[in-house]
Amino acid sequence: MKKDFLTLEDVTSEELNALLKRASDFKAGKDSSLCPLIGKSIGLLFNKTSTRTRISFQTGIHQLGAQAIYINTNELQLGRGETIEDTAKVLSRYLHGIVIRTYEHDTIITLAQNSTIPIINGLTDLHHPCQALADMLTIQEKKGRLKGVRMAYIGDGNNVANSLIEAAALTGIDLVLACPHGYEPDKTIYENARSKGAKVKVIANPDEAAKDADALYTDVWISMGQEKEVERKKKKFEGYQINSRLLSLAKPDAIVMHCLPAHRGEEITDDVLDSPQSVVIDEAENRLHTQKALLEMLVK
Ligand code: CP
Ligand code: NVA
Repeated sequence: MKKDFLTLEDVTSEELNALLKRASDFKAGKDSSLCPLIGKSIGLLFNKTSTRTRISFQTGIHQLGAQAIYINTNELQLGRGETIEDTAKVLSRYLHGIVIRTYEHDTIITLAQNSTIPIINGLTDLHHPCQALADMLTIQEKKGRLKGVRMAYIGDGNNVANSLIEAAALTGIDLVLACPHGYEPDKTIYENARSKGAKVKVIANPDEAAKDADALYTDVWISMGQEKEVERKKKKFEGYQINSRLLSLAKPDAIVMHCLPAHRGEEITDDVLDSPQSVVIDEAENRLHTQKALLEMLVK
């Protein structure tokens, strides 16, 4: 296993399978009395808001026997101009790992390059790999497999979409993304996944993507940090809502996924989000189990 988990490119298919297996065991309560990280300290450095990532990491770290130290990065000297490099070197002397949520992906690359401890990406503008781990566990639980599952991602080609593309390359999920023109996923990530043989396609038509899908996935149209774009984006995304009509195009037993938080009535309607086909709360729960498995694998 590599030192850091910055994107899904940092794990192999075999490592991902082992992680999902370990997460299932944690979820089933196996080894629940073990505290593999006893006496360790993990920093949670966030400068964007969070409900799931923060609380699932904090509780998961506690369950593994370690302590979590949460800090908003603005409260560090980093907020007053101390460099990322110096911060990384100093924190490596105290902590056994860092989970970071920030804006530019380059920030976490610099942090990782200058740290001797594992750095875990808790979301950047470009990737959300911890979310994709939980999504893979959820699909495996609900569909009994990953390879060949037909997933339709409808909406913004954002950090969540980029990580799902990398997940498809690792698992053999058949992923079709329907995005408005100008809001497609990152081109380099997409082409890289395709070059590895991933079954990934980006189209513009949401109906075509949803047809016969096993899973429909969406995320907010306005991600954290994009608040200035609200009106322009909302216009572009008309027709990209997961609603009962779009769901009726998918397989009758299709599941509905969303990383949450949802903007109800925008990218997804209440009736679909609250329907029996929705697995969004299981997905949120699975953040805890997959991240515990990830920490156990990375933190020595
Ligand atoms: N899905 C997710 O990352 O949620 P939070 O922003 O609440 O952490
Ligand atoms: N794309 C969203 C995900 C939130 C979990 C964002 O970056 O705000």
